[in-house]
Amino acid sequence: MMFCIFVASFYFFNIIVRNAKTDSEVLVLSDVIRAMEKPSTVVATLCWQTSKKVDFYNAVTSIDRSRAATARFDDMKHAKKDYGQDQHMLFVADLKCPNISAYFDKKKEEQYFRSPFRWILISSSENDEIVPNEIAYIDLLPDSEVIVLRQIEADTYDLHFIYKISPNSDWRTQFYGSWNLEQRFVKTNQQLVESTALQRLDLLGFEMSICYVLTDNDSINHLTDEVNDHIDTITKVNFPTTNHLLDFLNASRKYIFAETWGYRVNGSWNGMTGYLLREEVEIGGSPMFFTSERISVVDYIASPTPTRSKFVFQQPKLSYENNLFLLSFRTSVWYSSTGLIFLLLLALFAVAIWEWKKNSHHIYRKQDSGILRANFVDVIILIFGAICQQGSPVELKGSLGRVVMLILFLALMFLYTSYSANIVALLQSSSSQIRTLDDLLHSRLKFGVHDTVFNRYYFSTATEPVRKAIYEKKVAPPGTTPRFMSMEEGVKKMRKGLFAFHMETGVGYKFVGKYFNEGEKCGLREIQYLQVIDPWLAVRKNTPYREMFKIGMKRIQEHGLQARENRLLYEKRPKCSGRESNFVSVSMVDCYPALLILSYGSLVSLTLLIFEFIYHKRETIIHKLKHSNTHSHSM
Ligand SMILES: *[C@@H]1O[C@H](CO)[C@@H](O)[C@H](O)[C@H]1NC(C)=O
Ligand SMILES: *[C@@H]1O[C@H](CO)[C@@H](O)[C@H](O)[C@H]1NC(C)=O
Ligand SMILES: *[C@@H]1O[C@H](CO)[C@@H](O)[C@H](O)[C@H]1NC(C)=O
Repeated sequence: MMFCIFVASFYFFNIIVRNAKTDSEVLVLSDVIRAMEKPSTVVATLCWQTSKKVDFYNAVTSIDRSRAATARFDDMKHAKKDYGQDQHMLFVADLKCPNISAYFDKKKEEQYFRSPFRWILISSSENDEIVPNEIAYIDLLPDSEVIVLRQIEADTYDLHFIYKISPNSDWRTQFYGSWNLEQRFVKTNQQLVESTALQRLDLLGFEMSICYVLTDNDSINHLTDEVNDHIDTITKVNFPTTNHLLDFLNASRKYIFAETWGYRVNGSWNGMTGYLLREEVEIGGSPMFFTSERISVVDYIASPTPTRSKFVFQQPKLSYENNLFLLSFRTSVWYSSTGLIFLLLLALFAVAIWEWKKNSHHIYRKQDSGILRANFVDVIILIFGAICQQGSPVELKGSLGRVVMLILFLALMFLYTSYSANIVALLQSSSSQIRTLDDLLHSRLKFGVHDTVFNRYYFSTATEPVRKAIYEKKVAPPGTTPRFMSMEEGVKKMRKGLFAFHMETGVGYKFVGKYFNEGEKCGLREIQYLQVIDPWLAVRKNTPYREMFKIGMKRIQEHGLQARENRLLYEKRPKCSGRESNFVSVSMVDCYPALLILSYGSLVSLTLLIFEFIYHKRETIIHKLKHSNTHSHSM
């Protein structure tokens, strides 16, 4: 029994070994797969005998262990999920199989005839055409990588890439190499080692539709002549470069103009995104914001124009937020000055008492009104006069008193000088307290927003609390017209101060350069509001030309063509030169606390005057009454 099994298996083994004179088809395939120099997961749909399949399997898996080549045999009903990584997938299909078209249909539907999947089709020997009939009805667009293996004679094969530029164009073929038993595989066309996108850059005048966003009707007449270049700037910057891109691809073009970049309204997309989504255009020529919503419907390829929209404002004067008259000394200095004055007050009072006591025998002293009385209120008034640098009509005559007075006036003079110097310095400085959106919201600045489609959209749809509050409280408070305005109006208002304007900075700084004085440009501050990054160029999702677009845009950027256009139409943030020449005039706001004290003081003094007057009247009347009484008594 055991012996029987042994003999049987030996016999079976022998059959396999005897069949080892490998079919040349298997050799071609393994040579070609090796020549690709990529890790490959081979998915083969072959209608061969099992022994030939085993040969093929052995040949493929022994190609290169480090490249992890594996093979599997697939009939026409396999699941999509059990394949490996996309870029490793290599499909091998035998066109002689019955019903292979059904298989191709299915693969086409599952998007396998695209980058990064690779295909090798084994053409039947009776086919004369390079493009086999079995595949001819499927559109293999430029991003596909399909090699047709054709037998010319026994043990001689040739290999071609086949693709179409567009669904309606003719087939194009590229000779890849040939194989014969002696020389094995010879890659004739060394260029083909590069990526397929690079080889197929010449689209031979294929009409590419491209969409631009124009928000102003007149812009279509001024796409290249730099008239009104602050309107639709992003389109005008990218119109020349996207045209370079189409030239690079030798494509002709069809322009489509949309009014907006496209937002989701009631579940469908409008504007340029709508065109891209409906596959009516291949490429969106105006860069648009990179938002998470749009990522699922378009492909972004490059960020040609770094530009951001921000709130720009002149930093308000310090006095708008603070009381300059308190700010000039630190709190500790205030306390110690007060302490010093109090000490001097006590000293002066003590000296005054001492002097009066010592000189009490001098009678003339009482008549001299120029001598400080030893009276607390009188001392206070003297000190107050000294603080206000007003001097005093009374003084102490003794040498000790004079020394104290001298120290008092000297100390207060120095305090006064540094205080006023500080105030002058503070008047010139601007507040740097507004640093975040939240500060901006709680500041006294008024708001304006440049009137563009995307500003209107993103402001009205803001959900983050601070941004929402800015829109609802500052930009469009209920019951008023929303503060959307033209660039010119906004920048002019910004120049007047206390106004934050939301604008595209590159364009806005042109107006800043036009309207602002040199010194005024220094205090400009920017705060970003929109939560988006720089705009990106978008292409249709799954477009077969995506790789070419990417290569083209990179080249255009590397060669400086894009930078040229950007620099023409976008201004950098103005450099601040000559801050010292900036003269700040003092306004009512700066003196407000002083005026407040003056007016309250006047009120208090007037009231006191009235009281004094009444008191005086009363005294006079009482006096008169007393007099008349004595008169009547004497009469
Ligand atoms: C070939 O396709 C036809 C129709 O699509 C189907 O009826 C037939 O069963 C298929 N044959 C094989 C071998 O799959
Ligand atoms: C560009 O395409 C045209 C067809 O529109 C073709 O005749 C021409 O040779 C192509 N140019 C280049 C440089 O390949
Ligand atoms: C969206 O739908 C609402 C109600 O269904 C309708 O009133 C509104 O006009 C629609 N908007 C657009 C842009 O179609």
